[in-house]
Amino acid sequence: MAEEAVLGFLEKNEEIPDSGQFADERGLSHDEIVNVIKSLNGFRLVDAEDIKKEKWVLTNEGATYAATGSPEFQLFLAIPEEGISREELQRKLDASVFKIGFQQGIKNKWIEMGKSQAVSRKVQKVDDKVKDLLLQIQGGKAINREDADALKRRKLIAPLTWKGYSVKKGPKYASKRKKAVTDLTRDNLLRGDWKDLEFKEYNFLAKGLPPEGGHLHPLLKARMISCERKNSFYSGNHCLCIQVRRQVQMIFLQMGFEEMPTNNYVESSFWNFDALFQPQQHPARDSHDTFFLQEPSTTKLLPEDYVERVKQIHESGGYDSRGYGYVWKREEANKNLLRTHTTAVSSRMLYLLAQQPFAPKRYYSIDRVFRNEAVDRTHLAEFHQIEGLICDRGLSLGDLQGVLHDFFARLGMSKLRFKPAYNPYTEPSMEIFGYHEGFKKWVEVGNSGMFRPEMLCPMGLPEDVQVIAWGLSLERPTMILYGIDNIRDLFGHKVNLDLIKSNPICRLGLQ
Ligand code: PHE
Repeated sequence: MAEEAVLGFLEKNEEIPDSGQFADERGLSHDEIVNVIKSLNGFRLVDAEDIKKEKWVLTNEGATYAATGSPEFQLFLAIPEEGISREELQRKLDASVFKIGFQQGIKNKWIEMGKSQAVSRKVQKVDDKVKDLLLQIQGGKAINREDADALKRRKLIAPLTWKGYSVKKGPKYASKRKKAVTDLTRDNLLRGDWKDLEFKEYNFLAKGLPPEGGHLHPLLKARMISCERKNSFYSGNHCLCIQVRRQVQMIFLQMGFEEMPTNNYVESSFWNFDALFQPQQHPARDSHDTFFLQEPSTTKLLPEDYVERVKQIHESGGYDSRGYGYVWKREEANKNLLRTHTTAVSSRMLYLLAQQPFAPKRYYSIDRVFRNEAVDRTHLAEFHQIEGLICDRGLSLGDLQGVLHDFFARLGMSKLRFKPAYNPYTEPSMEIFGYHEGFKKWVEVGNSGMFRPEMLCPMGLPEDVQVIAWGLSLERPTMILYGIDNIRDLFGHKVNLDLIKSNPICRLGLQ
C-alpha cells in the first residue's frame, strides 16, 4: 500500500516534499511511509533526503491546562464582581492553581490587590489565550515563535525533533519494484529468467551472528571428581575439574611416569611392527588394516646394526628363541604408515633407553593412532591410545597386575579381571576387564602384557630387564562415562555439536 503510494505519486510528480504531510493526506502511518522510503532508497529506486522539523508537544502540565483552562483564567473566574479576600480565594482553588494563577493574573493585569488583602478584577472580561494555544499545538497546528517561547518558559510545551524525508525518483526508479532475489537457483538457470532477475546486494556491513562461547569436547572435557575419594590426589573437601585426558595424564604423573614424545603420526613399519617382533606376514600389516603412505612411501633412516639384529630374530631367532623361520625383507620394514598403535613409540623409546647404561623407567603416552577399520558403532579409523610401560629388572606378571589395579582404581574401577590373550610382542598377554557398577557387567577396558625377550634383547637391553605394558583407548572410558554407545557421536565428522554443548561435566570413574 504505502510503497505503491510513494512510487505511484513519483510517477506523475517531481517530488514528495514532506513525507509527514504525504502520510497525513493519505491517512497512512508516517512510520510505515518512512520504512518504505528507507527500503526504496536502499535499492536506489528513490533518492531520499532527511528533513528535520522542530515540533512542539505539550508537557503534562500543559496537557492539564489544555483541558481545564489556564490557572490565571480559573482564578479570574473565581473572583466575584465585588472582589474577594485573598484567604477565601485561596480556599476556593487548588494550591498550585492559586499560586500560578495569582502571579500570572497580576502580570497580565487581569487582577489587582487592594488594601486589606482584597483581590478584585481589573478588567471585565478575559480570554484564555494559553488554553487556546495549547489546544492548537495539541491539534498539530503551528503557533508563532513569541507565543511558543512564552509557553516553553512556563514549561507547558517542550520541543521535539521530527524526522521525515523529501523524496525524488532515484536512478533505478520504476513504478513497481521487482522483488530482489537472494539466491540464484537451478530453476532460474533452466528457465533462463536469471537474465531479468534483480539480485539483492551483499551487505558487507551486516553484523554476523554473535559467536557462541567455546565448548570442550568430552574427550577433553572438564569433569567433576566427587569429594568422597579420599585416597587419591583429588581428595579434599572441594571438587576438582580437570579434563578426561588431563586426568589420565595426572594419574600417570602421580604414579611417577614420564611422557613419551608422540609427535609423529607417520611411522615406519620397522618401529610399528618389526621392532615389536610382529612377523611380516601378520594380517595387521596388510593394507586392509593399516594405512600405508604413498608419499613418502619409505623411511630413509633406520639404525642399521639394530635392523640387522631384528632381521636375525625374525628369521632364525636367538636369545633362546627359535624365531619365525621366514625370509625377512627390508623393503617391508621400510614402508611408511600411519602408526597403528602408540606401542611404536614405546619401541623407539626402549631402543633409545638401551643405548645407555640401564636405568629403570616408567613411560606413558596419550595420542592418536590410525587403523584401516570399517567404521561402526565401536570402531573409528582414528582414535586415541593411552599407553603405559614400566621397564625394570626382575618384573613379573604380578607387578603388571598390581600396577593395573592401581592405575584403574584411580580411574574409578577397582574390580579387575584378566583374560589370557595374544599379542606378537607380549608374553604373557592379558586382556583387562573392569566391572562396571552401573551396567552391572564386566567390560573390556584394555590390553596388556610383558614385552617378549625377542623384542627387548635385540635392542640391547640387559637380559634380566623386563617391561610390563598396557594400552587402552581414550574413547572407551569417555564413552562409558558419557553413556555414548556410538563412537561416531563422540569423534569425527558426525559428532553432534549439540551434544558437545549440552553435555554436563561428567564424573570420570566407571562406577
Ligand atoms: N598395542 C596394543 C594395542 O594396540 C596395546 C598394548 C600395549 C598391549 C602394550 C600390550 C602392551 O591394542
